[in-house]
Amino acid sequence: MGRTIGIIGGTGGMGRGFALRWCRKNDILVGSRDGGRAAEAAAAYAKAAAEAYGAEAVRGSISGADNRSVAAGSDVLVLSVPYEGAEAACAELLPAARPDCIVVSPIVPMVRTEAGFEFIPVKDGRPSSYDIVAAHARDRSMVVSAFHVISEKKLADPSRSLDCDIFVCGDGREAVEAVCDLVRQIEGLRPVRLGPGSLSYMAEIATPLLLNAMSRNGIRNPGIKIV
Ligand SMILES: NC(=O)c1ccc[n+]([C@@H]2O[C@H](COP(=O)([O-])OP(=O)(O)OC[C@H]3O[C@@H](n4cnc5c(N)ncnc54)[C@H](OP(=O)(O)O)[C@@H]3O)[C@@H](O)[C@H]2O)c1
Repeated sequence: MGRTIGIIGGTGGMGRGFALRWCRKNDILVGSRDGGRAAEAAAAYAKAAAEAYGAEAVRGSISGADNRSVAAGSDVLVLSVPYEGAEAACAELLPAARPDCIVVSPIVPMVRTEAGFEFIPVKDGRPSSYDIVAAHARDRSMVVSAFHVISEKKLADPSRSLDCDIFVCGDGREAVEAVCDLVRQIEGLRPVRLGPGSLSYMAEIATPLLLNAMSRNGIRNPGIKIV
């Protein structure tokens, strides 16, 4: 069996996508600020997974709980919450995580303005998502930045085939390798290492870049592939 993967903010679109894509080989803990909402989402994802893959192909369990319980019970913790909630969520939850827990940040610091989609660290001088998460982590070598450039619409629909790259940044070799393996578990995704966590802003800024390209050129659910 694989790992126990906890998803903080697992009731959102990305959370649904991570749960549906990883449940065949891993146990999934769906987290929410409201444990009841997490349980409802987990039941819906379990049903959707059984319909998509067939019940016997889903080897992991999918259950829901409040974010704090999920943080304490996970081997891998995905912080699938908006940038504006990241600081408070990390301060509350990361001290509860296991010392050897791998923390994954797909968080994009982005805002929509009249100009288009803008990158908050450049526009407002605020920290990258990675820097916020790493500042609260028990061990920053366990923090890995990934999954910024996959659209929720594609990830959350198991009938859609994927063909794109996922940038991965982090300081700890083993943690980065473990997250690259999780990327590979999703058919059609290829992990592309960019370097240490200090370069995570390059992965994070790729999302507003893609969304501006999308909205100005009529491209739907864009992704990145390096050729
Ligand atoms: N959407 C995409 O296509 C996409 C692509 C790449 C990366 N991302 C990044 O992935 C993360 C999740 O994306 P998403 O679209 O799933 O986000 P979302 O739907 O906006 O939020 C996900 C969940 O986070 C919880 N949440 C909302 N506000 C919060 C706050 N202030 N504090 C703590 N929890 C809060 C909510 O769950 P509860 O109310 O149940 O707690 C919500 O269901 C974001 O950081 C986003 O930047 C998104």
